[in-house]
Amino acid sequence: MSSYLRALRLINFRNYADAAVLFAPGLNVVVGNNAQGKTNLLEAVAFTVTGSTPRTPNDSEVVRWGQDFARTEMRVNLNGHGERKIAVGYAPGQKKRLTVDDVPATSVAAYGAGGAGVRVVTFFPDDIRVVKGAPADRREFLDGLLSSLRPAYARAVTEYARAVQQRNQLLRRIRDGFSSERTLSTWDRKVVQLGKEILEGRTAAIAPLASLFGEAVGALYGPEKAGLQYYHSAPLDGYPEALREAYNVDIERGSTSVGPHRDDFAVLLGGVSVTTYGSQGQQRLTTLALKFAARDYLRTKTGHDPILLFDDVMSELDERRRGDLAEYFLESTQAVISTTNLEYFEGAILERARIVRISGGSIT
Ligand SMILES: Nc1ncnc2c1ncn2[C@@H]1O[C@H](COP(=O)(O)OP(=O)(O)OP(=O)(O)O)[C@@H](O)[C@H]1O
Ligand SMILES: [Mg+2]
Repeated sequence: MSSYLRALRLINFRNYADAAVLFAPGLNVVVGNNAQGKTNLLEAVAFTVTGSTPRTPNDSEVVRWGQDFARTEMRVNLNGHGERKIAVGYAPGQKKRLTVDDVPATSVAAYGAGGAGVRVVTFFPDDIRVVKGAPADRREFLDGLLSSLRPAYARAVTEYARAVQQRNQLLRRIRDGFSSERTLSTWDRKVVQLGKEILEGRTAAIAPLASLFGEAVGALYGPEKAGLQYYHSAPLDGYPEALREAYNVDIERGSTSVGPHRDDFAVLLGGVSVTTYGSQGQQRLTTLALKFAARDYLRTKTGHDPILLFDDVMSELDERRRGDLAEYFLESTQAVISTTNLEYFEGAILERARIVRISGGSIT
C-alpha cells in the first residue's frame, strides 16, 4: 500500500472560490462539460503536492480573478498509518508558503521531492510536446522526474541554468573586448561541476526508463520495439575538454554550445523517431507511455506508487486503447483522471471508480 490523497480544499484557485473534494484510493474519474474546472482541479492537486503548477511558470495565473491569494490544502493518507496535512498558500508578490502539518517546508525543492509524503505524475494534453516538441521539452520532462526524486538534483538544475547564463554574458564581454579569456576558467569549473551532476543523473536514469518505456508501449500500443536514446552534446567523461574545445565558437556566438542544456533524447518506435515521423495518435500514446515509465521509475526508486493525475486522457484514443489504459490506471494505488464523457469507460471499470462531478467551479 502506498500513500494516497484523501481530501482537497481549494480557495480562490482558478475558477474555484471555495470547494472541497474527497478522493478514494484507486480510480477517481472527474467528469464535467467543457470549461467547468476539470483541468483546474487536477492542476490544484499537482500544485499542492509539488508546490508549483505544471501548467505555467507564472504562479499568479492560478489566483482566482479579482482575488489576491490562492490556497490549497490536502489530506494525505500515509500508507494506512495516519494522515498528513499539506498546504500551499500563495499571494502574488510574496513568498509561497508550503507547509506540512502546519510546519513550513525548508525549500520548494525539498517539498517537491517527496516532502509532502506523496509524489505525482501528471499528464496534461499539452504534454504531447514532450514527444512532439523541442529538445527543451524533453529535457524538462527528464529533469522534472529526477527533481521529484532528489532535491539536490532540482537545485543543480536551477543553479546550472544560472551559471550558463552568466557564462554566456561573460562570453559576450570577452568577444567585445571587455573581459579576458582567463576569467572564463572560474565559470567553467562551476558550469562543469553542476553540469556533471545533471549528466550523471540523466545518464543513470535513461536506461531503466527506456526499458520501462518499452514495457508501457507494449501494453498501450502494441508489440513494436520502443526505446529512448540519449544524445550528449558533450560526453560525460570528456565534458571539460569539450567545453574548452568549443571556446572559440562559443565566444563568437556568445553562448555555450555544449553541456546538458543542449542535450536531447530520441523517442523511438520501431527504430524510428516518433518526434519526426509519428502520427498524432502515436505521439500521444508514446507520451502516455513515458508518463507510465516515470510512474514505474518512481515506484522502483522510492518503493511507493506516485499518484497519477491524467487530464482528458481518453479523448483521441481508439476504443481498444481506452480499455488498455483503464486497466493501467486500475493497477495504480491512486489515479485521478478527467473526462467530458463517462462513456469512454466500461461499466465494470466505473463501478470500481469514484466519480467526481464538476460544474462551474462547484463539486457535486
Ligand atoms: N485564474 C482564474 N480565475 C478564474 N477563472 C479561471 C482562472 N483560470 C482559468 N479560469 C477559468 O476556469 C474555467 C475552467 O477551466 P478548466 O481548464 O479547468 O476547464 P475544463 O473543465 O478542463 O474544460 P475542458 O473540458 O474544455 O478542458 C475556464 O473557463 C477558465 O477561463
Ligand atoms: Mg480541461
